[in-house]
Amino acid sequence: MSTPSENRITAVNSRMETLLDIRNLEVRFRLREGIVRAVHGINLRIAPNRTIGVVGESGCGKSITAKAMLQILPSRGKITAGEMLLAPRDGGPATDLAKLHPKGPEIRRIRGGDISMIFQEPMVSLSPVHTIGNQITESVLLHRPASKPEALDRAIEMLRLVGVPMPEKRVNAYPHELSGGLRQRCMIAMALVCRPRLLIADEPTTALDVTIQSQILSLIRRLQRELGMAVMMITHDLGVIAETSDDVAVMYLGRIVEQAPVKELFRNPKHPYTQGLLDCIPRFGKGRDQKLTSIPGSVPDPFTTVPGCPFHPRCAKRIAGVCDRGVPPLLSKVGPEHRVACVLYDAPRPEAAS
Ligand SMILES: Nc1ncnc2c1ncn2[C@@H]1O[C@H](COP(=O)(O)OP(=O)(O)O)[C@@H](O)[C@H]1O
Ligand SMILES: [Mg+2]
Repeated sequence: MSTPSENRITAVNSRMETLLDIRNLEVRFRLREGIVRAVHGINLRIAPNRTIGVVGESGCGKSITAKAMLQILPSRGKITAGEMLLAPRDGGPATDLAKLHPKGPEIRRIRGGDISMIFQEPMVSLSPVHTIGNQITESVLLHRPASKPEALDRAIEMLRLVGVPMPEKRVNAYPHELSGGLRQRCMIAMALVCRPRLLIADEPTTALDVTIQSQILSLIRRLQRELGMAVMMITHDLGVIAETSDDVAVMYLGRIVEQAPVKELFRNPKHPYTQGLLDCIPRFGKGRDQKLTSIPGSVPDPFTTVPGCPFHPRCAKRIAGVCDRGVPPLLSKVGPEHRVACVLYDAPRPEAAS
C-alpha cells in the first residue's frame, strides 16, 4: 500500500528544510595517555519532523556527537572543529551551537527549549530528591513565561500525554517510587514539556525489557507526530532503527561510513560494516537456534590510529595497498540519497580489487 499523498508531500517538504546542519564536527579528548579523536569530522543534516537514526557499535562516537550538540561534553572533551547550525525559530540568522559557551545563557535556552535529550538511564536526568512534578515544572518555568500553578498543569498534561496513569497523583511521586518504564515516561515528559524542535534519544530503551522497549519506541513515534519534532535516535540496535527511523547514519570510529533512507539501507547495504551489522540481527523464519554471524574483531582502543579506512582491519573485503592508505570520504553515491565511504564503490575500481 502506498503512503497517503499528504504524508508524501510533508516528507518531501521537510526533506528540503534543515533544522540542524552539522558540518565537519570534530571532538577530541585530551587525556594523559594521549589524544582521543572521538568524533572525526562528521556531516549530518537533521530535517524537521523526521527521525534520523544513528547506529554503530559501542565506542563509535554516537553519544559524544549528541553531547557536543548540547555542549554537555565530559570535562576533557572539546569541540575542535566544525559547525552545528541551528535554524532560527522565526527568521534571523542560524545559531552555531559549536561556538556557544557550555555554561552560557544561549545554550541553556536551547537545552530543553529547542533540543532535548533522553538517556538510557532515566536517573541521569531525574533527580532522586525532587518529585516528578517539581522537576517538570522547573523545566517549564525555566523556558516559558508561566506561573507555578500553570506550570504544574502543564506537567500533569504532559504526564498524561506520555501515558502515565493517574498523573495528578504521580506528579507528587519521587522517581524511586516508580517502575523503570514509568520513570522512562517521566523523563520523556520532562524532555518534551517545552515542545523542543529536536529530541535526541540516546539508547532510550536499551535498559528496558522487550515489551516495554516497544511501548516506549511507539510512544516516541506518536509524540513526534503529535508535537511535530525531529528525532535523533541513537542506538547500537538496527532493529530499533527499523522501527523508528526515516534516515540512517552508520557510524564507525567517529566517522559516518554510510548514510541512506532507512528502507534503502536495509534493502541495499553497501558498506561492509553495515552489512556486518545487518548480519548480526536475528531474522524471522530462521528458527531460534539460527547462527548469527558477528563482525570479526572489535572496535580498536581509542588511542590507536588506524591508517587508511578505519574499518579495514576487520573488513573481509579489504584491498591491500588501497584500504590501508587513504581514508575514503563519504562521497560515493550509490543511489539517490545513499552515500557510502568505501573504495569498493569508487569508479573506476582499483585494479587490485579483481
Ligand atoms: N569521558 C570520556 N573521557 C575520555 N574519552 C571518552 C569519554 N567519553 C567518551 N570517550 C571517547 O569517545 C569515544 C566515543 O564514545 P561514545 O560517543 O560514548 O560512544 P558510543 O558510540 O558508544 O556512544 C569512546 O570510544 C572514548 O574513546
Ligand atoms: Mg553511547
